[in-house]
Amino acid sequence: MERFQKLILLPLILTASLPGLGFCYSIIHGPSNATVLAGSEARFNCTVSEGWVIIIWLSNGNPVLTVINSQGAVETSDRFTSQNYTSSSEFTSELIIHKTQLSDSGKIECSIQQTSESGVAFLSVQVNGSLFIKNNTLTVKENKTVEIVCEALGWAPAPDITWMANDSFIDKSRYATQQSQGSNGLHNALSTLTLTPTDTEILTCLADIEALPNPQNASVTLIFVNSALENNYSEDNRSAWVIVLAVVLSFLGIVLLIVIIVVVVRCCCLKKKGSTYQNEIRKVSAEKNKDGDLENRQRHGSENPGYIPEELWNTEQSPRIASLPPASSKLAVPAADLHSNSSQKVAPQRRTNYLISPKKIRNVTLV
Ligand SMILES: *[C@@H]1O[C@H](CO)[C@@H](O)[C@H](O)[C@H]1NC(C)=O
Ligand SMILES: *[C@@H]1O[C@H](CO)[C@@H](O)[C@H](O)[C@H]1NC(C)=O
Ligand SMILES: *[C@@H]1O[C@H](CO)[C@@H](O)[C@H](O)[C@H]1NC(C)=O
Ligand SMILES: *[C@@H]1O[C@H](CO)[C@@H](O)[C@H](O)[C@H]1NC(C)=O
Ligand SMILES: *[C@@H]1O[C@H](CO)[C@@H](O)[C@H](O)[C@H]1NC(C)=O
Ligand SMILES: *[C@@H]1O[C@H](CO)[C@@H](O)[C@H](O)[C@H]1NC(C)=O
Ligand SMILES: *[C@@H]1O[C@H](CO)[C@@H](O)[C@H](O)[C@H]1NC(C)=O
Repeated sequence: MERFQKLILLPLILTASLPGLGFCYSIIHGPSNATVLAGSEARFNCTVSEGWVIIIWLSNGNPVLTVINSQGAVETSDRFTSQNYTSSSEFTSELIIHKTQLSDSGKIECSIQQTSESGVAFLSVQVNGSLFIKNNTLTVKENKTVEIVCEALGWAPAPDITWMANDSFIDKSRYATQQSQGSNGLHNALSTLTLTPTDTEILTCLADIEALPNPQNASVTLIFVNSALENNYSEDNRSAWVIVLAVVLSFLGIVLLIVIIVVVVRCCCLKKKGSTYQNEIRKVSAEKNKDGDLENRQRHGSENPGYIPEELWNTEQSPRIASLPPASSKLAVPAADLHSNSSQKVAPQRRTNYLISPKKIRNVTLV
């Protein structure tokens, strides 16, 4: 097959290269690396300068398509086709590989049949395998450590496995992934997550390869059962009753308050309507105020005696100051006088206003 292709190409190459012998042309842009999913197409560009004669595309060293300036593309397989783009001074040949297979992975070469000049790129064909979590819905009790297993089968290359709990990535130290070779050059991976749940969580296992726009994922819901919750159930019930009671009572309180306000407002309205009644009320209220004043005065009178013990306390202290050593006696004596004076000044007032002379007598005996 290969030989047959070369036999066909040989006369074409010979005829094509003859007129270009005197020209010097080169590759301006060689092809770029590409990563695709198996079954999809892969495209590579090769741009050459004006005066080009031939472009030969090679996949892993085998010629797959030839473009001749004078004749156009020579396609020998419908898996390898091409498109042309021409500008004023450049020519671009785009190789299209249809229904890529794992075996297409490798070197892609654009040769212009000049001395060792070729553009080289690498094609990586990858396989999107399957992914699933072996455990279905899990119910886990408090302080229980569980293992959740995620399996990836038939991937190329082996996928990167990561785990998520409720939209946040789990630390790599909490899971271990083993890779193994499957059939037909495919790979499998087995990831085991070890977890001691503290809450209900959605666990997601993600498998990623470069060719996938988004990682493939599989999820399981882990239901956390709190044993403390069961024990606290009766307590919770009681507290719920307390809350209901509090709500009802406060509601009744508000209703009562509203009723009182309504009654008061109504009373006020009635008072304003009757003018003669209002006057009478005013008189009554004025008398009440007088009574109140009297009461206040009496209150003041009864409050004052409370002040006396403080004064007494001061006069009680003065003798101690007077009996201090001679060095401080000069200062201490006037202080003692002041105290005695004040007590003398205060004494008559108290005697006239209040009946508390027995206390005064005690004061005099102390001085
Ligand atoms: C293309 O792929 C090859 C092989 O994987 C690598 O060595 C090279 O650096 C890549 N080139 C670019 C431009 O990424
Ligand atoms: C190749 O070049 C053409 C024209 O510039 C462009 O439209 C196309 O996307 C390119 N293909 C690749 C695989 O870069
Ligand atoms: C990869 O495979 C999964 C499972 O078969 C599928 O749901 C997903 O769409 C595939 N992804 C692509 C990009 O083909
Ligand atoms: C999850 O599945 C794996 C494999 O079937 C098993 O070894 C593991 O014990 C399971 N974990 C739980 C918590 O059931
Ligand atoms: C779980 O562990 C904590 C801390 O060790 C402990 O206080 C609690 O009682 C345990 N709960 C159960 C249900 O064993
Ligand atoms: C995870 O999500 C579930 C349901 O959306 C929620 O009940 C749970 O509290 C979440 N857990 C954490 C740890 O955020
Ligand atoms: C899992 O995959 C589905 C479908 O591809 C996607 O809608 C979802 O956002 C993915 N979930 C995560 C956590 O990446």
